[in-house]
Amino acid sequence: MYTIDLSGKCALVTGVANKRSLAWGIARELADAGASLILTYQGERVRDYVEELAAEVPGTRLYECDVSRDDSLDAAFENIRKDTPRLDYFVHAIAFAQREDLGGKFFDTSREGFHVALDISSFSLLALTRRVVPMMPDGGSIVSLSYIAAQRAVPSYNVMGTAKAALEQMTRQLAMELGPQNVRVNCISAGPVSTLSARGVSGFTGMLGAHRERAPLQRNITHKEVGTTGLFLLSDLASGITGEVIFVDAGYHVLL
Ligand SMILES: NC(=O)c1ccc[n+]([C@@H]2O[C@H](COP(=O)([O-])OP(=O)(O)OC[C@H]3O[C@@H](n4cnc5c(N)ncnc54)[C@H](O)[C@@H]3O)[C@@H](O)[C@H]2O)c1
Repeated sequence: MYTIDLSGKCALVTGVANKRSLAWGIARELADAGASLILTYQGERVRDYVEELAAEVPGTRLYECDVSRDDSLDAAFENIRKDTPRLDYFVHAIAFAQREDLGGKFFDTSREGFHVALDISSFSLLALTRRVVPMMPDGGSIVSLSYIAAQRAVPSYNVMGTAKAALEQMTRQLAMELGPQNVRVNCISAGPVSTLSARGVSGFTGMLGAHRERAPLQRNITHKEVGTTGLFLLSDLASGITGEVIFVDAGYHVLL
């Protein structure tokens, strides 16, 4: 049997809010493969849940980091740098849009709503990568999470589709810039999975049903499948892959 041994490696995973978070699915796989974990969480609202999960993996360190605020990013990284000499992996699993922008008409999106969605869901990849890469002197690997609405028109997903299109483009741009430092940057385009954020999209249950009925594999994907793909992309098994968007969607994206 082939095993992935990440002992001695350190992963920074953002975006864990609770046990259903896709970030936690990836974090679990990394931890099971032997990596040590650093988790950042948005704020007090999710702190208790994240602490409970972190306790499942001894040695996991937690830091509060609200990516919409530079002071919060700076404070988090000041502390992370104090406690951690080096990072090998970084998972970006953060997205947010105002509730009124995840339903109705895309053309009604306000300037404020557009700004919030792109700032938190897309710019944060840059803001975090800029702080993470200096901690990867021997190279590293970065993974973020997208959705098919980056490449297709999807009802209700609206401005979040715009944000994901930006994220996928940023994946390619960052891959080009960071390749010479042996830092790989990839993206997982996941099919719908029931999480806190996903349930905020109007008609999400219908999206789950449509994928289940139409996808070539005739089912929805699991947290675990996102987790194992994250593990693959972050590990040396994917050492030749950068700038890529990999679909984990039971094949839904191949359909017309
Ligand atoms: N669940 C799905 O169906 C699905 C499908 C494709 C892609 N994705 C993507 O997966 C990623 C993770 O989402 P999820 O579905 O696991 O939901 P989730 O709600 O568990 O995770 C979203 C995370 O974003 C964090 N966040 C929001 N605003 C933040 C801020 N200002 N600062 C720091 N953190 C902030 C939340 O605290 C939360 O941990 C997102 O990028 C999402 O778009 C999800």
